[in-house]
Amino acid sequence: MCGIVGFTGKHEAQDILLAGLARLEYRGYDSAGIAFFKDNGDHISMRKTAGKVKDLAAICDEENNSTCGIGHTRWATHGGVTNANAHPHRVGSVVLIHNGIIENYHELVSEYGLQKDLVSETDTEVAAALFNKMYNGDPIETIKKTVPLFVGSFAFCIMFKSHPGEIYAVRNVSPMVAAFTEKDGAFIASDLTAFVDYSKDYFIVPEYHILRMTQDRIELTDLEGKEVKPEYLKVDWDVSAAEKEGYDHFMIKEIHEQPNAIIRTIGGRIHGDLPDFKDDGVSDDFFEGVRDITIIACGTAMYAGMVGRTFIQNKFGIPVNVAIASEFRYERPVITDETMVIVISQSGETIDSLEALRLARKYTKKTLAIVNVKGSSIARESDAVLYTHAGPEIAVASTKAYSVQVAMMYLIGCKLGLVSGRTTEAEMKEFMADLKKVPDIIKSMLTIESKVDKLTSRMTNAEHAFYIGRELDYTLSMEGALKLKEISYIHAEAYAAGELKHGTIALIDEGVPVIAIASQSDVYSKVISNIREVKARGAYVILISKDAKITDESVCDVHLQIPKVRDELAVFASVVICQMIAYYTSIGKGLNPDQPRNLAKSVTVE
Ligand code: M6R
Repeated sequence: MCGIVGFTGKHEAQDILLAGLARLEYRGYDSAGIAFFKDNGDHISMRKTAGKVKDLAAICDEENNSTCGIGHTRWATHGGVTNANAHPHRVGSVVLIHNGIIENYHELVSEYGLQKDLVSETDTEVAAALFNKMYNGDPIETIKKTVPLFVGSFAFCIMFKSHPGEIYAVRNVSPMVAAFTEKDGAFIASDLTAFVDYSKDYFIVPEYHILRMTQDRIELTDLEGKEVKPEYLKVDWDVSAAEKEGYDHFMIKEIHEQPNAIIRTIGGRIHGDLPDFKDDGVSDDFFEGVRDITIIACGTAMYAGMVGRTFIQNKFGIPVNVAIASEFRYERPVITDETMVIVISQSGETIDSLEALRLARKYTKKTLAIVNVKGSSIARESDAVLYTHAGPEIAVASTKAYSVQVAMMYLIGCKLGLVSGRTTEAEMKEFMADLKKVPDIIKSMLTIESKVDKLTSRMTNAEHAFYIGRELDYTLSMEGALKLKEISYIHAEAYAAGELKHGTIALIDEGVPVIAIASQSDVYSKVISNIREVKARGAYVILISKDAKITDESVCDVHLQIPKVRDELAVFASVVICQMIAYYTSIGKGLNPDQPRNLAKSVTVE
């Protein structure tokens, strides 16, 4: 939540900051602002406004010769969406931007008498006031003294009056990456998409370390003042991955990227036709002695985990529990040292998942992260990590991340099945051969995009929608319903098809959309009966199935056929349809699917 960017170097800062903020807008888009050393002197100027980055650009001067500045795009936590609450915040000699939450801001206000300094309702301004109170002319000493007083999560970029050309940064939990190039100067941001045009090498700012950036160098020290050498990483995706490349929205671009994303996830992890994670540094020993599994995640990642659970439990008989990360943290964990804990997260920074992982590590040494963003906190803090290599996912609504997470769960399940002797190499070789066909399965679904677009005209006026299915299709339904909710604002629920008649069917009325998924052979006829039950009560039924012979109007209004693949793989086809239904319904309602209201991509607040 919130995107921050900073630059000091050999170019005009404003253009770099505005372009960086536009790339970070997925992290928050209710207000935006920049601050810079005016004419490179020691006066700091600010521009900020409620609204999007384009609204900020409209109030910026066309020419701005400053080569040092910071910028912020906000997702409101403390205080409404107003100009005053937008970042940067200035108190006395200090101007700063912040991502995170200062939990003890009330206490700090009274303890340090800061009330007179405050004009906004934000916790961030309290932090600015405290830095200012502690400021003795030496930024590093000030940060060292002030940072231990904060309780909460933070990534701060700070500029101090009388220190033109310098940016200071410090963080706890909230992500921040930085880079320096001789040619351009020093960059810092919540995420490297903000400056990837300038540098493919970057480092993660370590927690509780102070970064000092000038146009000639970057200096990193710990809170004791000891110099620390940054550990540089290399971006493994191309700049174009962070652009729309001709698509109207990132979401539809990312839907189309799924075949290649799956190839990158499973390619290199199937050796001798069997799953293999040795290239990831995860040997078979790690999978030995696993008695049960707990999957921890949030949102879409959790729904991918649910598909994984049904797959692993049904195919290999290994008990799997799926925990909502934010709940797991406050429940009594039923895990032992024989439990494998799998934390799934696209960003690797979701605070609830990260804290749940930290708790799980007290009980087991078998924590495994499935993460997309290289070097992220969840990846670094797990005992083992498997990167999904999907490339940057920018749209708030997760699409390609889900498919690669499911594919990874299948690989992990098969590995566990083999290591525990619950399956045979022959069976797994057949399964792997079919798994390799998933990119083509997805490609074939992308060819019915215009058909899906047309049918969503019946969805745009709906107030409610239902997704139903059994077994894997039920777990998939939850993801389908979440996609529709978050970008079209239609209330959508997923139900196990057999459960409807125990109450929910009372909600089915004339024209209510029901997306019915019927790909699982052993329950196919039962799902069809359940569908007839809702159809008979007036539902508008969109059926997703492999059955080429459906013509019966008593079953559905629209039939979207998926390829005749093995049941476990049908989820990859059906999810693409669900993603497209959500996308085109959102478009049909005149909404921006990339920036749904109230949401942000990376949820780094509790
Ligand atoms: O980065 P993560 O995978 O940990 O994020 C988890 C959820 O916040 C995320 O999947 C969210 O539910 C998406 N907006 C769903 O599209």
